[in-house]
Amino acid sequence: MSFTIKEGIAWVGKIDWELKKFHGEEYSTHRGSSYNAYLVRDEKTVLIDTVWSKFAHEFVENLQKEIPLEKIDYIIANHAESDHSGALPILMRRIPDTPIYCTANGVNFLKGLYHQDWNFKIVKTGDKLSLGSKELIFIEAQMLHWPDNMMSYLTGDHILFSNDAFGQHIATELMYNDLVDQGELFQEAIKYYANILTPFSKLVVKKIQEVLALKLPVDMICPSHGVIWRDNPLQIANKYLEWAADYAENQISIIYDTMWDGTRRMAEAIARGITETDSTVAVKLFNIARSDRNDVITEVFKSKAILVGSPTINKGILSAVAGILEEIRGLGFKNKKAAAFGCYGWSGEGVKMISEKLKEGGFDVVSEGLREKWNPNAESIENAVNFGKAFAALL
Ligand code: FEO
Repeated sequence: MSFTIKEGIAWVGKIDWELKKFHGEEYSTHRGSSYNAYLVRDEKTVLIDTVWSKFAHEFVENLQKEIPLEKIDYIIANHAESDHSGALPILMRRIPDTPIYCTANGVNFLKGLYHQDWNFKIVKTGDKLSLGSKELIFIEAQMLHWPDNMMSYLTGDHILFSNDAFGQHIATELMYNDLVDQGELFQEAIKYYANILTPFSKLVVKKIQEVLALKLPVDMICPSHGVIWRDNPLQIANKYLEWAADYAENQISIIYDTMWDGTRRMAEAIARGITETDSTVAVKLFNIARSDRNDVITEVFKSKAILVGSPTINKGILSAVAGILEEIRGLGFKNKKAAAFGCYGWSGEGVKMISEKLKEGGFDVVSEGLREKWNPNAESIENAVNFGKAFAALL
């Protein structure tokens, strides 16, 4: 499959309807994804990115229906990660001398991944490659989200090939932002930001401001996953600026696991206390052992505060809670409040351990937390309601 985006520019990627887990098992992709590659024909012909190695043969077969491979003058590798460079080994066996333009880190990473000494051309921000009547201008985008990332801007057609930035994991035959369900589109875009880009928010702001300062007209943003932004393309850049500014909605997420329902009953009582104090706040509960981790991280991203609960077990906490705490610690959320809660039978360290982990993750832990011995009775449920009320009052 291929389709024309604009005269002389074709999408030549792969839509992956089957993908349900990405980055190994680390990232859930309920709606599949796509690996977008683009072919730009001017006096010179350039291929921008490839696809995941799993689809390499199919990609090369389709590409040669589009153009004889030897007519490809240049290859741009905006990012070395395998979902975009995976077809290079097979493609380069067919056209071994074709120059590959990428950043200095890109060369190191491609060599590290494929152990091939291809005809690399290192580029930096501001470097240009003439295609005849148009030029590609390269913009390094270090740590968005790997050290090698870059974007390529096509003059004349005013297209920013942004690679991972502004992408979304969506499989669709409706490849433009104005054609797809907007709720699904922005849910996948924010999930992508929350799970991948949160640690790099300062760099996101700096890079977007740098690109906007160039005052290049942008008619389309073509990312490497999901739909092409052609309707008001800069709306997604503005969303990124909003998300990068310690984003929070009027939401509180309560994340817990439970052994015999005591911690669940506490979670529900805390939720009741919050809503009784502030009926406008969206309170969402997640049993983390039964929830998708990446979806919960997206909810944490949207929350102004979180509560995390676990019973104490073996002087520790339940593994599903420990797992999500480790993930959110690594993401480095900013400007969010938190507290811990949980049941215990004898030693009862769980709440303290959760509080410590939350502090390590940069959360402002606003209370000592709430511990209840054994299964909550009417009095301890009332305590949990009051804990929820006090927590809501502190926000
Ligand atoms: Fe879509 Fe960083 O790869």
